[in-house]
Amino acid sequence: MTTPAMPGAVKPMTPAAAPAAAPAAAPAAAADPVPPTTGELRQHLPLASVKGLEVSYGTGPLVLDGVDLDLYPGETVALLGSSGSGKSTLMKSLTGFAPISGGSVRVVGNDMTNLRRGQLRDVRASVGQVFQQFNLVGRLGVLTNVLTGGLHEAGPINLAGGFTSAQRRRALELLDRVGIAHKAKEQARSLSGGQQQRVAIARALMQRPKLILADEPVASLDPKMSHSVLDLLQTIAREDGIPVLVSLHVLPLAMQHSDRIVGLRDGRMLVSAPTAQLTADDLQGIYAHDEEASDDDA
Ligand SMILES: Nc1ncnc2c1ncn2[C@@H]1O[C@H](COP(=O)(O)OP(=O)(O)OP(=O)(O)O)[C@@H](O)[C@H]1O
Ligand SMILES: [Mg+2]
Repeated sequence: MTTPAMPGAVKPMTPAAAPAAAPAAAPAAAADPVPPTTGELRQHLPLASVKGLEVSYGTGPLVLDGVDLDLYPGETVALLGSSGSGKSTLMKSLTGFAPISGGSVRVVGNDMTNLRRGQLRDVRASVGQVFQQFNLVGRLGVLTNVLTGGLHEAGPINLAGGFTSAQRRRALELLDRVGIAHKAKEQARSLSGGQQQRVAIARALMQRPKLILADEPVASLDPKMSHSVLDLLQTIAREDGIPVLVSLHVLPLAMQHSDRIVGLRDGRMLVSAPTAQLTADDLQGIYAHDEEASDDDA
């Protein structure tokens, strides 16, 4: 039994109908402690928009086949699917690292199938990435790791002269925001996994990202740390109005820490709906293939 594709109940507004974005300095958020609903988040244009995406690595079946995905400011979208279903490939298509053979991918207004190298660099700099293995430089200090997130913005002149005090101040503020400012002077490799992932998140924020992609960011963490890192990512999405796309293997984590869930199976999109409208049963179809395979093995 497969779960039918479930389009999101709330349709995005057309560009003509979308209201102008609120001024950056609007004080409303502080007065309103209630998190925005999925519908409210979707009153803006998507930061990333994938339509009918096909990815092929050459001969053989398509790795992604007809995937649609819109990422709106402030929402956390959980990406689910068995190993090999195409989660990482979908993320790579948003940073120009996947061979797109059909459909369209737009990221921050750029057509990813038709970019010059300089434009591609700019798009990549606007996408913050968080990985399962943190990808920090272990022998460098925590603060320096965060500062490297600002290299694109710093440019070659500042690079030659080292980091400015404003950059250092900002990196420290970000470490404070992710709760580990007291570790700023330590070597990155001396931190626990959960702490290292917080450094990686601060480094991604140093880029002033318009979009965050987190590919299995909690796969190496214990359950308590997993909740706290996902909670941090969802808070950043809401507070900064950044879409966060996060791939996960643990269904309850996705149910608890996302506004919307997209489920892939064998490169096809099986589920796409607001999390509040889904039950665990709705999502079982994503993994049905695996159950059949293990039945065969038995
Ligand atoms: N560079 C590549 N060349 C050829 N095939 C690839 C390449 N990268 C990925 N694939 C194939 O694409 C499919 C999807 O891989 P992908 O890494 O996107 O899956 P995933 O859902 O992220 O899996 P996991 O949960 O194990 O990380 C797999 O069949 C994989 O073998
Ligand atoms: Mg993967």
